Amino acid sequence: MDRKDAILQHRTSLPIASVEMRLVDEVRKHDTIIIVGETGSGKTTQLPQYLSNAGFCFDGKVIGITQPRRVAAVTVAKRVAEECDVQLGQKVGYAIRFEDVTSRSTRIKYMTDGLLLREALLDPILSRYNIIIVDEAHERTVHTDVLLGLLKKVQDTRLQKQKLDKLDLNNLIQFDNGSQSSNTKLTPLKLIIMSASLDAKGFSEYFGGAKAFHVQGRQHPVDILYTYHPEPDYVDATLIMIFQIHLEEGPGDILAFLTGQEEIESVDRLVHERLKQLPEGSRNVLTVPIYSSLPSEHQMNVFKPTPVSFRKVILATNIAETSVTIPGVKYVIDTGLVKVKNYNPVTGMESLIIVPISKAQSLQRSGRAGREGPGKCFRLYPESEFWKLKDSAVPEIKRCNLSNIVLQLKALGIDNLLEFDFMEKPSREAITNSLQQLYLLGALSDDCKLTDPVGFQMARFPLDPIYSKALILSGEFKCSEEMLIVVAMLSVESIFYSPREKLEEARSAWKRFSSSDGDHQTLVIVFRAAAEYLKKIKAATSKTKAIEKNLNRWCSDNFINNRSLKHALDVHSQIKRHLEQIDMSLSSCGDDMLQFRKCLTASFFLNAAEKQPDGSYRVKATGQNVQIHPSSVLFRSKPDSIIFNELVQTNQSYVRTISRAWSPGLVSYYD
Ligand code: CDP
Ligand code: MG
Repeated sequence: MDRKDAILQHRTSLPIASVEMRLVDEVRKHDTIIIVGETGSGKTTQLPQYLSNAGFCFDGKVIGITQPRRVAAVTVAKRVAEECDVQLGQKVGYAIRFEDVTSRSTRIKYMTDGLLLREALLDPILSRYNIIIVDEAHERTVHTDVLLGLLKKVQDTRLQKQKLDKLDLNNLIQFDNGSQSSNTKLTPLKLIIMSASLDAKGFSEYFGGAKAFHVQGRQHPVDILYTYHPEPDYVDATLIMIFQIHLEEGPGDILAFLTGQEEIESVDRLVHERLKQLPEGSRNVLTVPIYSSLPSEHQMNVFKPTPVSFRKVILATNIAETSVTIPGVKYVIDTGLVKVKNYNPVTGMESLIIVPISKAQSLQRSGRAGREGPGKCFRLYPESEFWKLKDSAVPEIKRCNLSNIVLQLKALGIDNLLEFDFMEKPSREAITNSLQQLYLLGALSDDCKLTDPVGFQMARFPLDPIYSKALILSGEFKCSEEMLIVVAMLSVESIFYSPREKLEEARSAWKRFSSSDGDHQTLVIVFRAAAEYLKKIKAATSKTKAIEKNLNRWCSDNFINNRSLKHALDVHSQIKRHLEQIDMSLSSCGDDMLQFRKCLTASFFLNAAEKQPDGSYRVKATGQNVQIHPSSVLFRSKPDSIIFNELVQTNQSYVRTISRAWSPGLVSYYD
């Protein structure tokens, strides 16, 4: 069977295929519908194709599908382009922050929910779209929640506008024989909310009793096994489990749920180390990592068929719960944990923490083992713990810093946030905190309006407000080249890679990059060293493979995470392009470190802290007590006042990515 036949067979065998006509019909009849269907039933890949084939893309209109995660948007678009037998970026494309693979001919556009929100800034009625599908709505990311409220408004506005246009047109026809026909092109916005959770009631109520459809999935029985006792080290327990399954269970791939890139990479390494100790015949294991910031060249690996007689071990974050369905999985290892954003409304600080998943998530995870046949799920926690889990996770809007959202809604003209129609309202405290933060950053005026030009500029930057402000300020301080590097490096996960067993070696390798001014300058030095090296190898060879191999070697010699570094290089060039588009010229402060420190202080003064007599630090804005994280270059020197970019909560509160503050500058903000 050739590839095309195989794809056709795959498509027609998906559960959603049997209800194609009915779904198309319902979308014709209703402006808003909710589709609930088990993961893997074909919602994300098939529905947009059905609608496009049914003629919903007339007059060049587009079907937009939003995803909470970049990787999902990219991999699904690639898959659908292949299914439609078109080049990616033509009829089927995707757009995520810093990457737009669409063209004028794109009719099916996958994107992140955050990106569609940004598009609304340029086109508030989203006039290019006939249909918007909000996928993975059960994830309830803050962007999805805001988008739902906004889309409801856009639907209304478009209906109103359509009525008005008709009236106008009738009047105009008397004078001018209908030459305004382009006005009639505005159609009602059709909204489809898709979710993998069986509870559609909340969405239906929010959308005035919208109809919900259930797509039957195919689920085989899954044996659930628990541990007798809680596992003190879940990473180690995951490793043991992987090998136990590999050596004792029948064929079938393994999917292990971990919490983040660093952890996944360390399990990946440890699996390969331990494999070496197995007899030759048992080493047939292939590991594939998947997490949100995975560079695009590795993303599709997870879908490649497992080579004959090999066992694939997929190491994933909660991205594989519902966003991305990977074929071939028979065994699931569930650590019961997930990394989420957490927001402290008292201090106004956001941090990432690892927390227990919800019952709904743990059911989704075990479900992944029974897609193609009976499977097994190994939960690395006792059954009694399962019953203690929350039914479903708290929506992100209740546990994140809202500055970015507030800024964007303000830019959209939504001034009174307390009256915005949220599915679940964020707390008054969280809104007030973000308003205050934006005011201090200069994005809002005394009467809480967006400032011109700073506030408007900040709203257009595809970055957190604090970083947008830093870039704007760096123009004034003539160190925008340095700040651009800092922002790019802070947009990716852990640049430094520190294997437990080689920590000393790693530390001495990093010494050659470290700056006594702090971690920001250190990041600049690393970035420049990498860019310099890259330039050198590119001058010597033009072969992509050779360049990649050399860069990887440079990274491993220097204990730098190669995937993160490549991501940072990529983000750097994207932001640079954005700066060029807004005519901001780049300048470097050269060796004038004081200038850079002044700029860092002016940019991150909200995160300033002062040393206390006991060597800990007190965050000036909130009074919180914190320690310098041991990974910082300032861990030993402990300057009197610092600014920092990250707060890490473990049993202690640590701050990371720190620089010496320029104290006279701080005085002007605080005293
Ligand atoms: O959205 P939903 O979970 O209902 O399913 P989907 O993402 O549309 O996936 C339907 C099928 O396509 C599944 O069997 C996936 O394994 C497969 N798929 C794939 O092979 N490669 C991709 N890049 C995406 C999906
Ligand atoms: Mg899906």
